[in-house]
Amino acid sequence: MQALGAAGIAAPSPSRKRILMLGGTGFLGPATVEAALVRGHQLTLFNRGRTRPGLFPDLEKLTGDRDPRKGEGLKALAGRQWDAVIDNSGYYPRMVGASAKLLARAVKQYVFISSISAYAEDSEEGADETARLATIADPTIEQMGPDFAYFGALKALCERAAAEAMPGHVTVVRPGYIVGPDDPSGRFTYWPVRVDRGGEILAPGEPADPIQFIDVRDLGAWLVKVVEDGTTGVFNATGPEKRLGMGELLAACQRATATKGALTWVSADFLDKQKIELPIWAAYWGKTRGSHTRRVARALHAGLRFRQYDATVKDTLAWYKTQGPDGRVKLAGPTPEQEAALLAAWRRDAPTSPAPGR
Ligand SMILES: NC(=O)c1ccc[n+]([C@@H]2O[C@H](COP(=O)([O-])OP(=O)(O)OC[C@H]3O[C@@H](n4cnc5c(N)ncnc54)[C@H](OP(=O)(O)O)[C@@H]3O)[C@@H](O)[C@H]2O)c1
Repeated sequence: MQALGAAGIAAPSPSRKRILMLGGTGFLGPATVEAALVRGHQLTLFNRGRTRPGLFPDLEKLTGDRDPRKGEGLKALAGRQWDAVIDNSGYYPRMVGASAKLLARAVKQYVFISSISAYAEDSEEGADETARLATIADPTIEQMGPDFAYFGALKALCERAAAEAMPGHVTVVRPGYIVGPDDPSGRFTYWPVRVDRGGEILAPGEPADPIQFIDVRDLGAWLVKVVEDGTTGVFNATGPEKRLGMGELLAACQRATATKGALTWVSADFLDKQKIELPIWAAYWGKTRGSHTRRVARALHAGLRFRQYDATVKDTLAWYKTQGPDGRVKLAGPTPEQEAALLAAWRRDAPTSPAPGR
């Protein structure tokens, strides 16, 4: 993993912070730890010791469970003090409420990692942090539901639980797709890997369809800055800074490999009828028109910076190629056979004029 965050955040910070991470060994956690270490901060990780327990052998590790009802629960945190906590692993309001109440006098700042999915809808273009949040009929439910349907509303409730426990001291960060080297989801990674395979490539929608994501290293570096600056409030955290089209992302994938391949753009209408979802892309119409157009002016003002998306693409492909057959990444998206069948169906059914309603 590259130790440096976004451009300019490499030198040690003049004020050393004691940072507690609830989590720390998955994807965003390690990138944040790396960025914090570069800045000279002191870190403690709290987790169950199951996910990559060998990571960061030199850091202080506390073992426990976010769920106070399980095992020793949060006991390992009692009686300690930190400057800030970064909560990466909060999914249920009861558990986020428990850690925020326990830490209310032990930390000055609670940084809660929420999600852009916390919003009620994706149809509005250019929505900012004031957009309506998702709700759920039973706020005590502790499962994600079919197709992760409850995830966003539960994140919104977690945000509230943290804010109620530590009013005025909470930083809510709502990332879009977090991507880059080490991403276990295989979603963004699908694109550079697919282009690298070459041949005829199914490209979704239209080249100008907007696409947003954030390099995990940029997000990690910014979380550290937010702690250094004591920044509180609610922030969308996705990028890049200027609107990017799916065609530009795929062109970056082509620049990253000698293989290139040939793009065949397949309409959103066709993909919708086939009930096919392509990784990270969303149709630029109807209910998903605003999905990749979230405003990030607040986070930019608070110092969020993005590396060139070409670097994200290149580094992701290079990292993927270092993964052996046992690597932890299974690519999202269609298999080569499914993609070929879709392209054949598209050639059969392709409309000669644009679909209505776009
Ligand atoms: N990936 C995306 O595109 C995306 C987009 C938007 C928001 N987000 C949010 O970003 C955050 C980052 O996720 P990440 O997985 O990369 O974080 P991470 O901090 O790198 O990894 C998750 C950590 O949580 C620990 N953990 C899990 N369950 C636990 C429990 N019950 N008690 C104690 N520790 C527990 C895991 O260790 P053990 O298993 O050893 O306990 C692991 O260290 C999440 O909140 C996610 O919802 C992600």
